[in-house]
Amino acid sequence: MITFPDNFWWGAATSGPQSEGRFNKKHANVFDYHFEIEPTAFHNQVGPDTASNFYNSYQSDIKLMRQAGMNSLRTSIQWSRLIDDLETNTVNQEAVDFYNKVIDSQLAEGMTPVMNLHHFDLPVELYDKYGGWESKKVVELFAGFAKQCFQLFGDRVKHWATHNEPMVVVEGQYLFQFHYPNIVDGKKAVQVAYNLNLASALAIKEFKALNIPDGKIGTILNLTPTYAASEKAEDQEAARIAELWNNKLFLEPAIFGHFPHELEELLVKDNVMWKTTEAEAQVIKENTVDFLGVNYYHPNRVKAPDLAPDSVGAWMPDRYYDAYDMPGRRVNLDRGWEIYPEALYDIAINIRDNYKNIPWYVSENGMGVSNEERFKNQEGMIEDDYRIDFVKEHLTWLHKGIAEGSDCFGYHMWTPIDCWSWLNSYKNRYGFISNDIHTQIKTIKKSGHWFKTISDQNGWEE
Ligand code: BG6
Repeated sequence: MITFPDNFWWGAATSGPQSEGRFNKKHANVFDYHFEIEPTAFHNQVGPDTASNFYNSYQSDIKLMRQAGMNSLRTSIQWSRLIDDLETNTVNQEAVDFYNKVIDSQLAEGMTPVMNLHHFDLPVELYDKYGGWESKKVVELFAGFAKQCFQLFGDRVKHWATHNEPMVVVEGQYLFQFHYPNIVDGKKAVQVAYNLNLASALAIKEFKALNIPDGKIGTILNLTPTYAASEKAEDQEAARIAELWNNKLFLEPAIFGHFPHELEELLVKDNVMWKTTEAEAQVIKENTVDFLGVNYYHPNRVKAPDLAPDSVGAWMPDRYYDAYDMPGRRVNLDRGWEIYPEALYDIAINIRDNYKNIPWYVSENGMGVSNEERFKNQEGMIEDDYRIDFVKEHLTWLHKGIAEGSDCFGYHMWTPIDCWSWLNSYKNRYGFISNDIHTQIKTIKKSGHWFKTISDQNGWEE
């Protein structure tokens, strides 16, 4: 029998902007706005207006999740929904009522609610007025929004996250053009990375000041491990810098309260260092996380760059490494991502040995598959055996890490119910529960029934 620790979270994760739909929302976030001005950028021109209709069907959705074995759910509070006046952080009462009902419904079903505060969904007005995360004014406003959330919901929500995958905001908005406003500017990217770290620390400071009984706060990072293409010194060096930029830039401030010195030196040498103050450094130092959420989908394999870093024009962090496709790797062709479950073990051991063995959980893992209708049986259930295999393999490696002492207390699948995704819209389906986007009929997939059995038994018979 493979058995997981007592009270293990068997759950799933989604986000407000990807599940709720835009019903009754006063402000647009950057994705709502991007869809308004450029619908063709989105798969099949499907925008976030309805998403999976969670705003209207949260009650029955949560019941279905419970039937699929989930004992906890992470979603996010949308800044652009909760706050009426973005300058003064006054709240919108309808939104407060909505999130209260979501939280109460989860608790009524015996599910642990986990709330995140920022899932790529900056209100677009704050980009237009201040330059979004480039601005320390926005960092302050975020801390005010966070405080409102803790005060309103902290009596029942005991697990919080400040951001989801802040590095994706840096890359998407400022480096690789997959999030509005699609800027390419390495120096701004560096400042934004710093500001997101500061925003997290300031929100944690607000949280700690409130002394919420049993309250814990963390952040959610996509800790994709970096593997060098070979033992050659130049490939190892490429992997070292990739790891510094992609992971340690957020991980070390969150856990140790300071940035990795080797990265700071490199940014100073390249003349792209962020602007900081002593007072901010103190906030970052004093406000580290209680626990960590780790999103893991695929490994990051790198090799030495083909071009000498200094010969590349504008500064970008990836001048120091090139992506590397390992021959013979397994790939989920629909999403183009390598499948490498062993990495969950490597993550577990890395946290155990190098990051104070801090409590952590898998906050996202999953397999996006397109056109899942082809796997529907006569009863209308999607037979997604590939997803069962995927989850089981990942859990097996995670279990090995736990057995060797890593303090992992849960596993959240992305996602409970097929939901809307950024530019991909509904192309790739990830849920344990399918969602017909035309009828909004939701049906537990074979993997959801299987998940219920492992959740009930807290593991499985070998
Ligand atoms: C994660 C994000 O990185 O990946 C989710 O936190 C996202 O918001 C998920 O939906 C899957 O990515 P995609 O692009 O296939 O939807």
